[in-house]
Amino acid sequence: MLRFTGVAAAASVALFGSLVAPLSAAAAGAALPPFASMDTLFSFGDSYSTVGYKPDQGLTPLPGLGGTTSGGYNWVQFLAKGQNQSYFDFAQSAATVNNSIIHIDRGTLPPSFDMQLAQFEQFFGGSEPEIPWTADKSLFTVFFGINDIGFTVLQGPHNASEIVPRIVASYEASVTQLYERGARHFLLLLMPPTNRTPYIRSFGAETGAKFIATIELFVSTLTAAIADLSARYPDATFTTYDTAPLFNAILDSAEEYGFTVSSKSCYAYWNKHQPDNDQPSCDAPLSEYVWNDDYHPTWRVHALLAEDITKTLTGDAFALGVGTTPSGEILTRRTTDDAPRPAKRRTFERRRPGHASLRAAGAGARAQAVLRERMRRSWAGLPADS
Ligand SMILES: *[C@@H]1O[C@H](CO)[C@@H](O)[C@H](O)[C@H]1NC(C)=O
Ligand SMILES: *[C@@H]1O[C@H](CO)[C@@H](O)[C@H](O)[C@H]1NC(C)=O
Ligand SMILES: *[C@@H]1O[C@H](CO)[C@@H](O)[C@H](O)[C@H]1NC(C)=O
Repeated sequence: MLRFTGVAAAASVALFGSLVAPLSAAAAGAALPPFASMDTLFSFGDSYSTVGYKPDQGLTPLPGLGGTTSGGYNWVQFLAKGQNQSYFDFAQSAATVNNSIIHIDRGTLPPSFDMQLAQFEQFFGGSEPEIPWTADKSLFTVFFGINDIGFTVLQGPHNASEIVPRIVASYEASVTQLYERGARHFLLLLMPPTNRTPYIRSFGAETGAKFIATIELFVSTLTAAIADLSARYPDATFTTYDTAPLFNAILDSAEEYGFTVSSKSCYAYWNKHQPDNDQPSCDAPLSEYVWNDDYHPTWRVHALLAEDITKTLTGDAFALGVGTTPSGEILTRRTTDDAPRPAKRRTFERRRPGHASLRAAGAGARAQAVLRERMRRSWAGLPADS
């Protein structure tokens, strides 16, 4: 059994990698084609993956910057862009694996994985797909769990040990359905440490501990399910990419990755779609923030994520969060100490005087605090007032 050494940060999510080992079973029968030879990405997921694509409005594979939660492109776009691939991204903000399993206290949830899959079938299945695609040249990416865990912990009453296995069983059923529709190459992303987002940290240590435990349960249950899929479908490949090591490395050593603000977001950057945004009321330009808002990373984090995923898909041994290489070889997870660093530290221009002085003057700070709390309560399904 493979043993991960875990990432050495007190607040980090310790994931247990031993269950990833059986993925090598998939390699016996099939290998991922060279990533550069693949021309199409189909993506399923949530706000960390959404690009605002609306399949019923025709083919708009490159909707640009407007539909992400990163302030710029996200990892799906950076991944596709790097190889000039077409991408069709069914991900939706706030999506879960299966809306019938998760209870939310108010409002309705967007299409979950099973419903995103139905959209895929409607537009890309059957004998007349919107574009022709072939199994060998198409990568199917699946990235869920953030909202499943978020709603499980924050909205209730959910019993995690009861519903996590049901969520994972539904995930496995949807991946099986994709396989039955001809998908053969899968990239499955494991959960980032959402307990380290400013949003979840705002709930305090007890909630943070619940997140850590629930994420661990989800990831270990999911990796077992992926091993099961690998064993069942030897003519398919299931590449896992664990996003936690990269997020932990960035949060532990933000400056080394070119970030100056890693513990909070700046309200003036929320819900904007301007990668070079640089507001005097914030501590730094958006490009130096890890968090675009209190729950979502910036485009620069997504760029690093795409870079590391590309390394995993092309078999580069320096990838941070890995399951298998295209040849099926298992790569071990690196510790933070071993983690590759960018060769050069970025140099930063001195802050414009405006950054500090406006902040000191507390411009709009009270209004921002009120709006931030309102947003926080709405995400958590709490009533707006009180
Ligand atoms: C992608 O397309 C651009 C513009 O045509 C080209 O310069 C670049 O080399 C291509 N990249 C890859 C990886 O094929
Ligand atoms: C939660 O579910 C598990 C598994 O079904 C069960 O053993 C446990 O008693 C439940 N806990 C509560 C508080 O209901
Ligand atoms: C989603 O959950 C419902 C309720 O548990 C279940 O009936 C359905 O089969 C699930 N969907 C999938 C794809 O497993």
